[in-house]
Amino acid sequence: MLTVTGASGRLGRLVVLGLLDAGVPADEVVAVVRDPAKAADLDGRGVQVRRADYDDAGAVAKALAGTDRLLRVSGSELGGRVAQHGTVLRAARAAGAELIAYTSGPKVETSALAVAPDHLATERLIAELGLRGALLRNNWYFENYDAAITRAAETGEVVGSADGGRIAAATRADLAAGAVAVLTAPEPAPGVYELGGDEAWTLADLAAAVAAAAGRDVAYHDLSPEEHARALEAAGLPEGAAQFVVGTDQAIAKGALETGSRQLSELIGRPTTTLAEHVRTVLAG
Ligand SMILES: NC(=O)c1ccc[n+]([C@@H]2O[C@H](COP(=O)([O-])OP(=O)(O)OC[C@H]3O[C@@H](n4cnc5c(N)ncnc54)[C@H](OP(=O)(O)O)[C@@H]3O)[C@@H](O)[C@H]2O)c1
Repeated sequence: MLTVTGASGRLGRLVVLGLLDAGVPADEVVAVVRDPAKAADLDGRGVQVRRADYDDAGAVAKALAGTDRLLRVSGSELGGRVAQHGTVLRAARAAGAELIAYTSGPKVETSALAVAPDHLATERLIAELGLRGALLRNNWYFENYDAAITRAAETGEVVGSADGGRIAAATRADLAAGAVAVLTAPEPAPGVYELGGDEAWTLADLAAAVAAAAGRDVAYHDLSPEEHARALEAAGLPEGAAQFVVGTDQAIAKGALETGSRQLSELIGRPTTTLAEHVRTVLAG
């Protein structure tokens, strides 16, 4: 049985659909969700939709029964999710799973990203529990920049504080395809996978890509962290969210999202989606 948690989410859903496209029989795929109504379409295709909240260890144990390989899509509650990951990992161990794929973050041992400590703690837990982990260190989603791309086409500017830091972003679709490849490999292949786009681009490159696609001038304005936080708050972002974005850009400036890895395109057997392609897709609506 191939089990995917967070299957009602944007990444998890793509993985479940990718498994079906790859020819895995639907009744061998388990989609773990906390609200089955959100996965009615998967149920309609014959996928085993099982309900479990990560905070309910009993439900998680039932949901993971029979799991051979698990994709543990990381939780969304920053700071509180390591315990939730642990609940799922222990259930997978009890089920005798042969491979645990986990959606981690880029270069987590050394990263200054705010999300890195939870990912690192989870990677260590996988090892402590004696599980065979495929650590899918997913880079930033391209989709994190969709609002900035749309705004840049309207206003002619991209604003940030990442300096010349490079971002090896990948689309959720490409990252999901990578997870499908790992889950369906003939033999379980544990290890560290630094997964991102083949090209790593700067925010100035993003501005140039929007300019080319929108047919207008677009400039990147690099602000100080303080100016960036003020600009975000003036645009309506709560203080905590603004600090998260600024902290992310500071980490990007230090190279947190530049890996030089081609593991994703190797896994999926094709080049990853490029910046120019993604920008054109977003602007085409
Ligand atoms: N690489 C990146 O740029 C990036 C960016 C953002 C997040 N992430 C990480 O990647 C993960 C997947 O991304 P995504 O875009 O698919 O996120 P998403 O669309 O928000 O999906 C998150 C999934 O987690 C489920 N979930 C959250 N808390 C749960 C709980 N207590 N019990 C059971 N299910 C729970 C959600 O269920 P519901 O549908 O019921 O809410 C949903 O299915 C995120 O959760 C986050 O850890 C990565």
